[in-house]
Amino acid sequence: MLNLETLLLELSNAQGPSGFESEVRQIVRKELKPYVTSMETDGVGSLIGLKTGPPNSPKIMLSAHMDEVGLLVRYVTPDGFIKFQTLGGWLDQAIIGQRWQIMTSKGGVLGITGIKTPHVMSADERGKIFKGEGLFIDVGAKDKSDAEDRLGIKPGDPIAPCAKAEKLNGSDFILGKAWDDRAGLAVMIGVMDSIKDKDLPFSVYAVATVQEEIGLRGAHTSSYAVHPDIGLNLESGVAGDYPSISQYEAQEKLGAGPAIFLHDSSMLPNLNLRDFVIETAKEIDLPLQFNVLSGYGQDGAEMQKAFEGTPAINITVPTRYLHSHNSLINLKDVESAIKLVETCILKLDPAVVEGLKNFD
Ligand code: CO
Repeated sequence: MLNLETLLLELSNAQGPSGFESEVRQIVRKELKPYVTSMETDGVGSLIGLKTGPPNSPKIMLSAHMDEVGLLVRYVTPDGFIKFQTLGGWLDQAIIGQRWQIMTSKGGVLGITGIKTPHVMSADERGKIFKGEGLFIDVGAKDKSDAEDRLGIKPGDPIAPCAKAEKLNGSDFILGKAWDDRAGLAVMIGVMDSIKDKDLPFSVYAVATVQEEIGLRGAHTSSYAVHPDIGLNLESGVAGDYPSISQYEAQEKLGAGPAIFLHDSSMLPNLNLRDFVIETAKEIDLPLQFNVLSGYGQDGAEMQKAFEGTPAINITVPTRYLHSHNSLINLKDVESAIKLVETCILKLDPAVVEGLKNFD
C-alpha cells in the first residue's frame, strides 16, 4: 500500500538540481518498479517506465519532472567563497539568507548565502535589492585551497536548497522545497499504483523527466522516445490564494482540488482532452480548478510538439511559493489529482483515444 505522505516527504527531501537528478531518479525507479513491465533511461537521463498494453495499442504518456531549481558552482574566490550560476528561475531575493548543499564528489557540503548586515547600511542601501552577481555561498573555508582540496568543491558542482519537508502545524499542508515538480512525481507514482492490477487496452508510459527548469529538455527527448498518442503532464500549479498575489495573476487555491492549465506561455491544452478531463471530474464529483497564466513553461508543451503533434494537457497540484526553499501543497489536492488522472485513464480505450485525436 502506497503511503503518499511518506513518499512526498522523501521526494521533497531528495536533492536534484537540473541536470543532476540521480537521487530523485533512484527513488522514482524504486517506486515505479512494481507497476511497470520495463524501465529505461533516454540519452539525457529521463526515466521511462512502461506498463505495456496489447501490441500496436495506443500509448498514454504521463510525465512529471525530477529536477528542481538549484545553483551550480562557477568558481571559488581566493578567500574561499563560492560564486555560482543559477539553474532555473530564481528571484535573487529568494536566494539570499538560505542554507544550501553543495553536491561534491566527496559528498554534501553545507553552505549559506550570506547577506550583508543591516548595521552598516545607509537607509538608501537598506531599501535595495541584492543582485545575483554579488551573491556568494559561505562554506566556512579558510581560503580557495581549503574549499577545493579539503571540501572537494569544484566548478560545475550542483548546489541544492536545504529545507526539510514536514506537515505544517497539524494541517493537510505540507511544507517543503521542490514541490515543483516532486508533487507531480508523487501523482504519477500514485496513479501507477492505482491502476497496477488493471489489464488495460493501451500502454501507459510513466516518464520522469530531467532538466525541465532549464528549458523542458528531458521532456523533449523522452517525448520522441515514447511517441505518445495522448500526453498528460503532471505539475505543480500556481496558487494565487495568499497576500501579495492577485487572482488575475493565478487562480488556483490550496485544498480546492487539482487544476488544469487553460493557458500558459508554453502551451494551450488540446480542446478534446480539456473537455474530457472536465467531464470526468464532473462524473466523479471531484472539484476541478482552472488556471490561466501569462507565463510558465511545462513539459506538456514538448509532448504536444513531438512528431506530428500530440493531444496534451497539464494537470496540476496547487502550490504556494514556487521556486523557493519553502513551498506549500495540500495533501488532499495530491490525493484528488491522483483520483482524477486514474479515472481519466480508466475511461480510455482505442476508440476514445481516436476520438480525442480527432479535429472537426
Ligand atoms: Co515544474
